[in-house]
Amino acid sequence: MLEEPGSTFIDMAITKPTLLLVHGFPQDHRLWDPQREALRDVANIMAPDLRGFGTTTSYNALVTMETYATDMHDLMDAHGMERVVLCGLSMGGYIAMAFLEQWPERVEALILCNTRSTADTEEGKKGRIATARDAMEKGSAVIARAMVSKVLSATTRNERPDVVADVEAMMARQHPSAIAAASLGMAQRTDRTAVLRKVKIPTLIITGDADELMPLPTSQAMADVIPGARLAVLPKAGHLSNVEAPEQFNATVRSFLASLPHA
Ligand code: MLT
Repeated sequence: MLEEPGSTFIDMAITKPTLLLVHGFPQDHRLWDPQREALRDVANIMAPDLRGFGTTTSYNALVTMETYATDMHDLMDAHGMERVVLCGLSMGGYIAMAFLEQWPERVEALILCNTRSTADTEEGKKGRIATARDAMEKGSAVIARAMVSKVLSATTRNERPDVVADVEAMMARQHPSAIAAASLGMAQRTDRTAVLRKVKIPTLIITGDADELMPLPTSQAMADVIPGARLAVLPKAGHLSNVEAPEQFNATVRSFLASLPHA
């Protein structure tokens, strides 16, 4: 049977980009719950668990950002996905940059949330080793308790006890080995500012004005080196801007996706 004239055009028009959402440390795919349903009409959403986190059970002593990026690449291949809009939050951003360095042709647009392109300082590396040790010796709940106040803004902590409880629970249920492996892997990551300088795809940088872990100048610095990058600063949001300010976050991503040639 002959295809109706124009059917190909119609299919093209309704094709949505795939948004590959990469969570941070020490989290899992549930980080993206505020985006999964809310952005479904404009993108095919993929929010995997990184190796060792969430529902996965593959544990290593140390996982580099390159290894997580390779896992994302393999996942894309397994699903026959040629190109994605790659979105990573914090450690997810480190992974997105590692991916971009290796496979730029597989990324149609980039969203970097609450992250930085620079490597750890020597002091920071020592902190990672201490975190890895604490995770193994004291357990994930201790790490979660220490981190929850750092990743959420004062506004979120004061006004949204449900969010505080959910975020702490998400971190506490991660396997200590996964936490240790990621922490040691982050300590080894390299400065990828030079990778960002070469970016030629549409890029959106999102942060919260109350992110204490990645203060605004870190995001500004990334926006400054990426030609044409947009920077969105969400008011009263901390390090988990997608969870703390979901409406603004989703509206920002929506408008970015609508600006892509895909739309
Ligand atoms: C994260 O949220 O992924 C971490 O805060 C990243 C980091 O510790 O550098």
